[in-house]
Amino acid sequence: MVAKKALITGITGQDGAYLSRLLIDKGYEVHGIVRRSSDHNTARVDQLRTDSNQQAARLNLHFGDLTDSAGIMSIVESVQPDEIYNLGAQSQVDISFSTPLYTADVDGLGTLRLLEAVRVLGLANTTRIYQASTSDLYGKGSASPKCEQTPFEPNSPYGIAKLYSYWTCVNYREAYDMYVCNGILFNHESPLRGENFVTRKISSAVARIKLGKQDVLQLGNLDATRDFGFAGDYVELMWLMLQQDAADDYVMATGKLSSVREFARAAFAHVGIELRFEGSGLDERGIDAASGKTLLTVSKEFFRPTDVDLLVGDASKARQQLGWTPSTTLQELTAMMVDFDLQREQNL
Ligand code: NAP
Ligand code: GDD
Repeated sequence: MVAKKALITGITGQDGAYLSRLLIDKGYEVHGIVRRSSDHNTARVDQLRTDSNQQAARLNLHFGDLTDSAGIMSIVESVQPDEIYNLGAQSQVDISFSTPLYTADVDGLGTLRLLEAVRVLGLANTTRIYQASTSDLYGKGSASPKCEQTPFEPNSPYGIAKLYSYWTCVNYREAYDMYVCNGILFNHESPLRGENFVTRKISSAVARIKLGKQDVLQLGNLDATRDFGFAGDYVELMWLMLQQDAADDYVMATGKLSSVREFARAAFAHVGIELRFEGSGLDERGIDAASGKTLLTVSKEFFRPTDVDLLVGDASKARQQLGWTPSTTLQELTAMMVDFDLQREQNL
């Protein structure tokens, strides 16, 4: 049987690494777009290239950038993919405030470039497309939990750029009958999460503090509340979405809430440190109950001009129609991330 071909933008990111492994295990020929960089940026998928010859033979990397229409067109033409997973993005919400134009270009127009490449190359009826949409689309809206019908009210340059992509995908599905799906993903984390995102910033700092390599962890909005899942569970749903009779949009979430403060408390507890919180606002501190030492402080530097206070999702549609449920609990996720960082720090 001829292997299916998948093209992944953002293959070097967290989700790209989990998804490429899943697809290779399913027998796919996987192609990934890698940004040109002055240094090595494929660390998250390097293991796939060395695990076994069979896996390495199924992974093909191409230099490209979502801001470069001609390059995207040429890669799509040469690969002729059965499935495209558009994971590439400037994905940091805080950074989108300082790079709004670049974020709009990559996260908004980048999707349009990909869809146009598929359409212009005559692949509209053969190539299925997954778009990495986001719970950040809901922004400041107060309805909770959020489902596919909840109105979008994005309040960051990132969310607004992703909103453009969301509707572009819906429009290409309706106008050209293309198989295009939006996965509205709530926050999902893992040991492969970038260290600028709050959970990994916490797990890596907890490991360093436990090993005596760092004194204090500085965070911003401790009250922010998110629906944290495990990235490894979420890539399975991306694939499932492209295997249905008809394209549709789905929320992916655990339905459970945790504040940043609770996540930090659980991460410290995992290494045997009981954190007691005192004070409020910028004066709030997390204190080691045993030693009395301050291990966590709040800094203005990590607050955003506008933030999303609370995000929790209702993934009933994915559960009922695709049979998908996330299997990793928040406690397991926290332990997995902290243990990974402890081991990494010990080996440095
Ligand atoms: P990530 O770790 O930040 O990875 C982003 C990927 O996009 C990286 O491979 C990055 O390349 C690539 N990229 C950035 N700019 C690009 C450009 N101009 N052209 C081509 N590629 C570019 O993000 P992630 O957590 O895996 O998330 C994957 C996707 O899901 C993103 O679109 C994100 O916005 C979306 N999403 C994520 C979550 C979440 O909680 N993780 C939730 C909802 C939606 P480099 O490695 O070179 O930087
Ligand atoms: N990054 C970061 N750093 N966030 C902090 C910090 C800090 O020091 N302190 C508090 N926070 C708060 C942020 O203000 C935010 O409310 C929350 O922690 C989560 O921040 P991030 O981990 O940066 O994630 P995000 O929710 O803004 O964005 C992620 O999830 C989106 C889905 O809702 C990213 O993965 C996006 O790409 C994704 O679309």
